[in-house]
Amino acid sequence: MQDLQTLETEITANIGAANDLDSVEAIRIAELGKKGRVSLLMRELGKMTPDEKKEFGPKLNQLKNYLNDAIINRKEDLEAAELNQKLAEERVDITLSKAAPELGSIHPISQVIDEATEIFTEMGFSVAEGPEIEEDFYNFSALNIPESHPARQMHDTFYFPEDEDGNRKVLRTHTSPVQIRTMMGGEPPYRIIAPGRTYRNDSDATHTPMFHQVEALVIDKNIHMGHLKWCIEEFCRKFFEVDNVKIRFRPSYFPFTEPSAEVDIGCTFKNGEVLIGEGDDWLEIMGCGMVNERVLENVNLDPSEYQGFAFGMGLDRISMLKWGIPDLRDFFAADLRWLKHYGFQSLDIPSLSTRTSTIKGSK
Ligand code: DAH
Repeated sequence: MQDLQTLETEITANIGAANDLDSVEAIRIAELGKKGRVSLLMRELGKMTPDEKKEFGPKLNQLKNYLNDAIINRKEDLEAAELNQKLAEERVDITLSKAAPELGSIHPISQVIDEATEIFTEMGFSVAEGPEIEEDFYNFSALNIPESHPARQMHDTFYFPEDEDGNRKVLRTHTSPVQIRTMMGGEPPYRIIAPGRTYRNDSDATHTPMFHQVEALVIDKNIHMGHLKWCIEEFCRKFFEVDNVKIRFRPSYFPFTEPSAEVDIGCTFKNGEVLIGEGDDWLEIMGCGMVNERVLENVNLDPSEYQGFAFGMGLDRISMLKWGIPDLRDFFAADLRWLKHYGFQSLDIPSLSTRTSTIKGSK
């Protein structure tokens, strides 16, 4: 019988030298497989005398178990090495600092919408929306601007072609139609703001065909001008971040409010810049008033029970004021250099504590 010790040394060395799983498996088959060297030796046991069996049996068994273990261990080592190599290759060093990727910047209008929303929702308003392609009814008639009304001319409306019924849709000329949609879409009380895009056929340094407004509407029992005044003053203080904002209400006219006013904010013009909250100059920032009884009747509310106020503010205008942006047209010129200068980092956006409700409204 072959010297088992030599055999063990030889096979152990081979196992140790095998560098991949296939080679180890080949050794297993060659030594311990059906026709393997060790297996053949086991078979020879049958031909041995009982004494020889006694001597070789345990030794052979030991050798077989030893080699089995050695093969399993080698396989495990190789598998672990392979995994480690893979992990090393795919390693990402998250501690390595790298310049933050350019994510672009937030447009001042988006920023102003977020800030205004934040301020009004803190006061208890929720956000309402309406379509930009609007029906004549919501944009004009229901707001007490009938067909023949001169206020229609003031709006420089973009009209769509007539449909089969002779109705012409419009690009909404203001956010006021959301007032109507809100009141027709649910029960009072209402306390909403509606920021969004508006359109008029007008273009110069202070007008662009598309611009932005935020509408506000409060309808409840016992609402009066004092509530309107406080609300606007509070907004201006927070938005312009000055404590003693000077605000002036000038009597004005809007078909959907009675009485109506325009709101000016006190400022100074210095070296081509505007400073808010000081000086003797005034800048108009919004229209407002108590909701006209006719509008309430148009949406089936009883004016002797419910009343309220509304206002509509130009968002582009207040952005220009807050950040000293001189030309309105630059807002929409898509010039990246301008955005880099006037834009905001994404983390500057106030977190919105708002519930958004889309008002569907029906006629
Ligand atoms: N919709 C008006 C405009 O675009 C602004 C406005 C004035 C809105 C008075 C109102 C309001 O809600 O009460 O010129």
